[in-house]
Amino acid sequence: MLDFVERTKYEGNPLIGYNYEAHIKGKATVPPFSTLLIGSDLCLMVNRPEAIEELFITKGKYYDKHPASLHIIGVVAGDSILFARSDMQWQQKRKVISSALYKDRLRGMAETIKKVTLTTIKEDWLKRKDSNGIITLDIGRESANLNMKIVLSCFFGQDFDQIPLVDQVFDGIKTKLPLGEAVHKAFEMANEREFQAHLILFTELQQYYLTQYDRELRENCGAMRNYIQGMIAERRKTAMVDNNDLLSILLKDAAFESDLAIVDECMTFFLAGTVTTATSVSNTLCYLVQQKRLEDKLRDSLGKNFPTFSNKHQTIDELGKEMTLESLELIADDYLKLCFNEALRIDPPVHFSSTGMLTEDVEICGFKIKNGEMMLQNIHQLHHNVDQWGPTHDQYIPERFDPEHASEYPKRHPMSFIPFSGGKRVCIGKTFAEVSYKIIVPMILKAFNQGGRLGEFENKDFYQNLPMNNATQPKRPVLNLILKI
Ligand code: HEM
Repeated sequence: MLDFVERTKYEGNPLIGYNYEAHIKGKATVPPFSTLLIGSDLCLMVNRPEAIEELFITKGKYYDKHPASLHIIGVVAGDSILFARSDMQWQQKRKVISSALYKDRLRGMAETIKKVTLTTIKEDWLKRKDSNGIITLDIGRESANLNMKIVLSCFFGQDFDQIPLVDQVFDGIKTKLPLGEAVHKAFEMANEREFQAHLILFTELQQYYLTQYDRELRENCGAMRNYIQGMIAERRKTAMVDNNDLLSILLKDAAFESDLAIVDECMTFFLAGTVTTATSVSNTLCYLVQQKRLEDKLRDSLGKNFPTFSNKHQTIDELGKEMTLESLELIADDYLKLCFNEALRIDPPVHFSSTGMLTEDVEICGFKIKNGEMMLQNIHQLHHNVDQWGPTHDQYIPERFDPEHASEYPKRHPMSFIPFSGGKRVCIGKTFAEVSYKIIVPMILKAFNQGGRLGEFENKDFYQNLPMNNATQPKRPVLNLILKI
């Protein structure tokens, strides 16, 4: 693993790249499991859908979380429901948190998502023209900040013209970063930290923050936690405990016994709710810029469903009025949904799950798996298995999700596509993410349109090869788009 990290320029998370090189590349059939040795810990990568089906369904009652991810990512996400064992306490907390995402609340949140997106585009992005009248945005970075504003507004009742800035320190230099970027950066650092030689060799050291890099990561997360603590104090001071949002729910419910427990859940929402949706949005926009055919098709489909979209005399505000939770659900020709699915497939925002394990010795796909053995759902590999997705698995083709085109692609196992994981630990934010995406992408396409084109890449290499862009990679690429107005 250390050799792989030093030798290759693999953009994604080394666990995925190394597993592919060592166990999958050149093999006619992908094995259901492959093994990685991380220090003295054995980790099973789950590469095939048949094994996932057993883990989620037939043997689901034995599948639970393994604590390794908490040791690695807990510094960012805290000790929240994300890494908790599937016990009664987790069940109770998950139920309470899920109520913040019920459909009756989602309707109001869709209105908030529209408002935040509109304000960001009109009051921020469109005002960033340089002296030549050109707007260049790193769409990955901007999507992270936009989704953070959405999460802050929908779940924490915050209202902003500008995204809040938090104190951060990198290589000894103090700076301030917008909260969305700060969360993104902290997750990158936590993913990269794992691949320091001393932590690969002695995994038991992961819980100690010994190097300057480690201490800065912890300090940066501390600044975000302080920000949340400030929101809690403000909410208590103004006695607005019943604001009908996640923060109110957490403050009222006895399951969240301390401020520490509340801050942990909030940090998880900051992370799970922003970095993920942001990458699906920015990756889609990049694929549209790369392939004119897709952009034409999507604009055409949106125009059929929302007349204001294609009417040049109608504004982005009018498009906003036309898009409601109901109208988004009732879209007849939903090419946007196909684009969403394909973005989640080709470069899944979460390339692999947190660490899981079986609570008894269990046989899966004919392999005897020992109680407590660490395993990861290899979501990226599941989305690229050639027998499931065909030889075009590396190409962005939304039509592969269209039932009308089913005969053109191999028949695939339902567990070949698990961007939100599955079973009892399936993502609780999947509908919210889809609604956010379905509002953000059309609004951006409406705001930036010159002759039917959204923009062009500053880096012309991206027309041939887009860099990887997902939440689990140690270094996020710069995705500069020159937008057309
Ligand atoms: C495209 C967007 C998203 C993707 C691809 C995604 C993906 C995932 C995945 C793969 C997991 C399982 C992680 C694991 O194995 O530990 C997960 C869990 C989770 N997600 Fe998401 N997610 C997205 C959006 C969101 C949003 C918007 C929220 C909140 C608003 C959210 C909140 C959570 C939470 C709280 C969990 C933990 C659930 C539990 O273990 O009980 N996610 N998500």
